[in-house]
Amino acid sequence: MKDHNISSSFILYQNSGELSEIENELLQKAIEARANAYAPYSEFNVGASVLMDDGSVFTGNNQENAAYPSGICAERVAIWTAMSQLPKGKIKKIVITASSNKTKVNRPVAPCGSCRQAIAEYEIKQDNDIEIFFTGETGDIVKAHSIKDLLPWLFDNTMLK
Ligand code: THU
Repeated sequence: MKDHNISSSFILYQNSGELSEIENELLQKAIEARANAYAPYSEFNVGASVLMDDGSVFTGNNQENAAYPSGICAERVAIWTAMSQLPKGKIKKIVITASSNKTKVNRPVAPCGSCRQAIAEYEIKQDNDIEIFFTGETGDIVKAHSIKDLLPWLFDNTMLK
């Protein structure tokens, strides 16, 4: 028996002024997407933007459904839109922001487990890390360097072989 350790690191930005120009642009696009979320049930609005290696940007927001499990998160709408349009493209950065109609979201909102798994699929496929930024409506912005920092011990296609 032996103890092992997986470490995870991230960067914390105190405000958007600390982001690069393109990251700020991505945040603005995610905020715009968030405003168009269809979230009448949770009233929790999420927007995501994706930067591709050719410089193009895709966005998405959460889309809910009266049959609750039929809804989908903002991140997967954005990622799947990007990958359906640019199947050979590589994802460089994802920016996620959340707000609520019920309360002020003033802390970073991390992607859910299913979205992490979807991000992992493409990070492994493209063999290049994807930077993941997440924030609330206000407050700190977290940057993970790779999905591996958010999803250690991930299930990937090598396990199917
Ligand atoms: N949601 C996202 O869009 N992304 C996440 O990573 C977490 C949750 C959405 C799903 C649902 O519409 C609402 O937020 C409340 O869970």
